[in-house]
Amino acid sequence: MRNRITARAFSNIALIKYWGKLPTKLNSPATPSISLAVSALKTETTVCRIESGRDKFILNGKPTDMATSQRLREYLDIWRKQKLIAGHFLIESRNNFPTGAGLASSASGYAALAVALGAFTETPIDKAELSRLARIGSGSAARSVMGGLAFLPDGKNPAAKLIMPADKIPWGMVMAIVESKHKKINSRTGMGHSAETSPYYQSWIKSAKSDCRKMLRAIYRNNLAEIGITAEANALAMHACMMSARPPLIYWNPVTIEIITRVPCWRKSGLETYFTIDAGPNVILLGRKQDLLQIARRVKRIAGVKDVVVGFPAGGAEVIRWN
Ligand code: DP6
Repeated sequence: MRNRITARAFSNIALIKYWGKLPTKLNSPATPSISLAVSALKTETTVCRIESGRDKFILNGKPTDMATSQRLREYLDIWRKQKLIAGHFLIESRNNFPTGAGLASSASGYAALAVALGAFTETPIDKAELSRLARIGSGSAARSVMGGLAFLPDGKNPAAKLIMPADKIPWGMVMAIVESKHKKINSRTGMGHSAETSPYYQSWIKSAKSDCRKMLRAIYRNNLAEIGITAEANALAMHACMMSARPPLIYWNPVTIEIITRVPCWRKSGLETYFTIDAGPNVILLGRKQDLLQIARRVKRIAGVKDVVVGFPAGGAEVIRWN
């Protein structure tokens, strides 16, 4: 019997955003999404069987706050109810990047957790099922299970699919960290609030579906310009939906705007890069691998940018140690 499993997963940045849920208990995405897993955003999670009657959670060396512990405990209950696991666990997770600053920590977190828990089950669980189980924990985690360029369809109980493995992807991402503090309103709450109060929520869902079709075509054609323009439009549409919620959800700060207004100028000057923004103020720039260092240098020069992280395409979640 296995007692201690460590899994590693890379977080991902969506080029087509998941923002909105269907009314189910399965954390079902209302929009299809497409993402790139990035090497620089890594989580390692160790799951250890314990005798005590209560699960314990440690994140980056500290016990998790009440809300996070509750969410994780409920997640383990789902696995227990489905008789996939039994007993209680100590879960220790470590991210090598700021948690909760719009760099999708729940994506790599739940992907690593699902893959580690999957190694405790009696019968092996295939990757698609692990992706579904990770999605129940956090929607974006379904994509991190697959790694590379991954597509998560909308619908009741989807699994992510691998569109392109990491070693075939010619692009990477530069993450401009303009704020590393915990964000005020997490994605889950933000999505619910947007759905309930934004007059543009339905138009957002419709445009996200059409953006996703465009993006898939652009990826198959290997057309960076079409990929980038579609990603920018999709991120801005998501933020328009957030900003039109009542009260508004404004994740940006002045530095966010400074960066996104410079990106088209950089393109005009010959440096091909495109931006996207998650539910936070940080800006993520997409570019060809050979241009990433130059993009990083330009971003670093902007006042207010606290850190710049270069990320290359990364693989799926996997078990890295056990005993
Ligand atoms: C803006 O996956 O964190 O990063 O399913 O409620 O855990 P939950 O949401 P989460 O949302 C991610 C939102 C996003 C866009 C994306 O990654 O697609």
